Amino acid sequence: MAAIGIDYGTSNSEVVYFDGQQHQFIELDPLSPTPCKIRSSVFVHYTDDLPLPDANLVEDKVAQLQRAIKTKLDKAKESYYQAKDPREEKIFSDRIDSLRGDFHNRPALQQHAIHILMEDMTVQDLSLSKLVETGEFLFGEAGFSRYLKNPDKGRLIYSPKNFLGASLFGGQQDAFIGIIGKQLSYFRECAEKQLNTKVTTAVIGRPVRFHGTRGEQGNEQALTIMRAAAMAAGFEQVEFLQEPIAAAYNIERQLTESTNVLVVDIGGGTTDICCIQLSPQQLTQLDRRGDVHSVTGTRIGGMECDKNLITKTIAPTMGDGTTFSHGLPIPPTYFSDMCAVDNIPRLNNFFSEEYGLEIAQTMSVASHPELLKRLRIVQEQKLSARLVNSARLAKEMLSDKSHIILPLKYIQDDYQVSISTDDLRRSMTSWLHRVKRLITECLDASPQPPQMLFITGGMSLSPIVRQEILDLLPDLPLMEGDAFNSVCQGLGIQASKLNQ
Ligand SMILES: Nc1ncnc2c1ncn2[C@@H]1O[C@H](COP(=O)(O)OP(=O)(O)OP(=O)(O)O)[C@@H](O)[C@H]1O
Ligand SMILES: [Mg+2]
Repeated sequence: MAAIGIDYGTSNSEVVYFDGQQHQFIELDPLSPTPCKIRSSVFVHYTDDLPLPDANLVEDKVAQLQRAIKTKLDKAKESYYQAKDPREEKIFSDRIDSLRGDFHNRPALQQHAIHILMEDMTVQDLSLSKLVETGEFLFGEAGFSRYLKNPDKGRLIYSPKNFLGASLFGGQQDAFIGIIGKQLSYFRECAEKQLNTKVTTAVIGRPVRFHGTRGEQGNEQALTIMRAAAMAAGFEQVEFLQEPIAAAYNIERQLTESTNVLVVDIGGGTTDICCIQLSPQQLTQLDRRGDVHSVTGTRIGGMECDKNLITKTIAPTMGDGTTFSHGLPIPPTYFSDMCAVDNIPRLNNFFSEEYGLEIAQTMSVASHPELLKRLRIVQEQKLSARLVNSARLAKEMLSDKSHIILPLKYIQDDYQVSISTDDLRRSMTSWLHRVKRLITECLDASPQPPQMLFITGGMSLSPIVRQEILDLLPDLPLMEGDAFNSVCQGLGIQASKLNQ
């Protein structure tokens, strides 16, 4: 029996097994150039017809059909009382009988209601619960490439982890347990096959604070969902460990003496920081709460940079900053709504027909309708997740280049945007300020100053981010380590301690 570490990230997830000496990463995505790392997005889709509509929708439609029959019935009755001769009376009494028959023929009414509802139903109309209950799940590259080919055939949940701390209504909590349960079950099966043993225990990473605005209540909800999902996935024992502390356990193996280390983990969804006393003597200790000097964390991660890059550099080429012909500005909320891939109600509102009509009307009285046309295409073709993904790629490319041309051909044939590292830096100003404030908070809360610095998480690969942190802490020696694997490796170490 083996215990594994699971880094269930906002952007990517990883699974690792630690045997006390070495880490073995589990291959999760054979289609990816980095098969031991899998996109955390899920595409839930339909290869055949959509499922039948929910019973309550059918009942509402039946009631509507019955109201229409009742109106006809009332008219027929009126005509019967006003009939001039028995022949006319007979016609209307037959009609009344026939309408009464229709009114009470429930199976036929339900059939008719289903037919009408199915005619205009799209995947976007399905509730999340229905989608999870009836759709087919595709993970990693397989899911994302199917989404790119057939976005209308399913729904892409871009980062399930982002929703766990948010307000969830009417079955959405169970829907996320279903989605994450299926992901964790897939991870467990991959691990069992590759380790050739049963896997029933997992240590799962958690951010200090989950994405969302509901504080401790949001954190509690997120952990409840994750625990239920892990149980549904077949795990029997599950523990959670804060992500920066997990990363610390991994670098502890490099140390030769007791050291207070500041760990900064900047991922896709959150930034998590801790000051922790690490020591080779403590390596095998299970409970290290006494060694943690301070922890801070907040929901600022790489995805927010991607959205900021859109609003600062791409949105102006879609009409942001231009005006109506009377001179008032085009509402900037169009562009922030367009990027709301981590807010289901807001994104659904952006994709609604009414929203599309509003943009179309705005275009008719705008000074630059040709730019707004691009916004309209993203809205109409539901391309928000694709656009945020393009911005992510642009940001990552700008870690190695000073300037890129970002092609956006899926919006318009000849559409491309030129972006420089200076543009990126400008779009990151307030984000960087918040990250630095969080680091300072962690330092202030620690009773002892750190002696070393370790920066991890995908965003630590950005030279802009690294430089800002090094400038903030010029005297702190930097420990080298991996940007993507440290958290997961630390979770694997903790899992191995549980299994001893
Ligand atoms: N070379 C790079 N340059 C800049 N940013 C990068 C680079 N590579 C990855 N990133 C960014 O790092 C983020 C993903 O980091 P990581 O995989 O650590 O996040 P995660 O663990 O999925 O998220 P979280 O820990 O917040 O739940 C993304 O925003 C991604 O764009
Ligand atoms: Mg992470």
